[in-house]
Amino acid sequence: MNLLQSLLPIITCLMHGMACTRESSNKLACLDVSIHQLEQVKLECIRQMQVGLKGEAGGLPMFPSYITHFPSQHEQGTFLSADLGGTYFRVAIVSLEEEDYKFIKRFSIPIPEQIKTGLSHEKLFDFMAEELVQFVLKYCPQSKEIKLAFTFSYPFLQKRLDKGIITSWSKGIDLPSAIGLDVVELYQHSLDKRTGSDGKTRIKIVALMNDTVAQVLAYKRINKNILLSCIFGTGTNGGLVVTVDKETFGPVQWDSFGSMKDKQTIINTEWGSFFNPTLLPITEYDERVDRKSNNPGKQRFEKLISGFYISEIVKEILKSDFSDIYSKYSSVITNEFISLIANEEHLSPSQMPTIMDHLSKESFTTEPRNGKNNPTIKDMLIIQQISQSVLRRCARLSAVLIVSGLEVTKRKREEYVVSFDGALYQNSPIFQRVLHQTVQELLNGFMPTVVYRSDLHCTLLGGAVLLASPDEKDSPIDESTFINKNEFSC
Ligand code: GLC
Repeated sequence: MNLLQSLLPIITCLMHGMACTRESSNKLACLDVSIHQLEQVKLECIRQMQVGLKGEAGGLPMFPSYITHFPSQHEQGTFLSADLGGTYFRVAIVSLEEEDYKFIKRFSIPIPEQIKTGLSHEKLFDFMAEELVQFVLKYCPQSKEIKLAFTFSYPFLQKRLDKGIITSWSKGIDLPSAIGLDVVELYQHSLDKRTGSDGKTRIKIVALMNDTVAQVLAYKRINKNILLSCIFGTGTNGGLVVTVDKETFGPVQWDSFGSMKDKQTIINTEWGSFFNPTLLPITEYDERVDRKSNNPGKQRFEKLISGFYISEIVKEILKSDFSDIYSKYSSVITNEFISLIANEEHLSPSQMPTIMDHLSKESFTTEPRNGKNNPTIKDMLIIQQISQSVLRRCARLSAVLIVSGLEVTKRKREEYVVSFDGALYQNSPIFQRVLHQTVQELLNGFMPTVVYRSDLHCTLLGGAVLLASPDEKDSPIDESTFINKNEFSC
């Protein structure tokens, strides 16, 4: 092969690249967000967080968790923990050891699509009960009563450590009959139908928390200075560590705080519901994604940045501005594909095999390969450019939430310690990079300490940590919370 022959594919790619860069850049300009715009959004986000903390209308939910005791980093024992996330229901037996932990048994199962929506919520709670009971009977059949920490990754107003009223649904679940009801009561009822009689093992839910709260507790075992937990996955949310003082919470909330006064607690911000139609860079594509969702008008920020909606935004852009490409590839535009293609710095012929390999695993292959439908570099470059623009906007907007949360804590910048979780953060280097850069930009060059462990399984670990921590009166750990290790039939 002479030099010209070997350079030809690269030259072709560059020419295609230049042509489609011009074509698509104009159309994608609406996804650019200036630092000035981000600053404005930040001020509004801080305002809504402060209003929410005072319990006044017009603010973010800012739900208090009622947790006032934080891990000492030395808790020990073996505990049962479960989590209803955006895509999976997960369960684990977690063993906490001095400065370490391990999952003795852990399993996760996708939530069946058919029980996520409908007139009755019972099927969802029965599904979780059935899975959990089978797990417990298999691994700890001799126990009389097992205490459970339950992480529920949806919005609820916490009334006590073991009581939370469902306020709305998100991330594709829509079961209106459960709104206004207590999560713990609903789940306990489904569990009791299956356990407890005839001397069988009973599972008792003793603690309920949101996944942001579980994340704070899990990361506190690693770094006790965690101030903010961030989730960028199927949904998005942040958990803030704040001191319950009169000035921050206002007279009405303050009066109802009882034993929480002057102590530190974790606030579930529910920042995915943040919205301001004037300041946020909402495009026609976002409007369409919102209208097509099962909760139009709700969780508007989540719909701009979270994994559940990213592929929808990319598809809307293709549909309206690049319809040929849309009809060819719509079935393969998944988050996995977007992450893969967006993270290639330069899409060259040598990388086509990886992309083709991915496409061949998808339904794309069901189309006849008659030449017309074969993936081309030009198509890939356009999809890449759209995906990168969407992810960059996600990251820049996400940075605003982080900085707003940190500033609401009124701590010194040196105390800013942030933890991360979620598939979008984990799988998308471009999202991570732009997010960190923008946080730094918004803090005039200062970078908070970032704590991140992809193997942590925060929601399950956080539940166990909570069960292991004595309550706010510093009473000794209730021994009955433990699962006796000798009971395992592993
Ligand atoms: C959604 C839920 C929220 C959860 C987040 C991350 O925004 O409303 O409760 O924390 O997803 O899972």
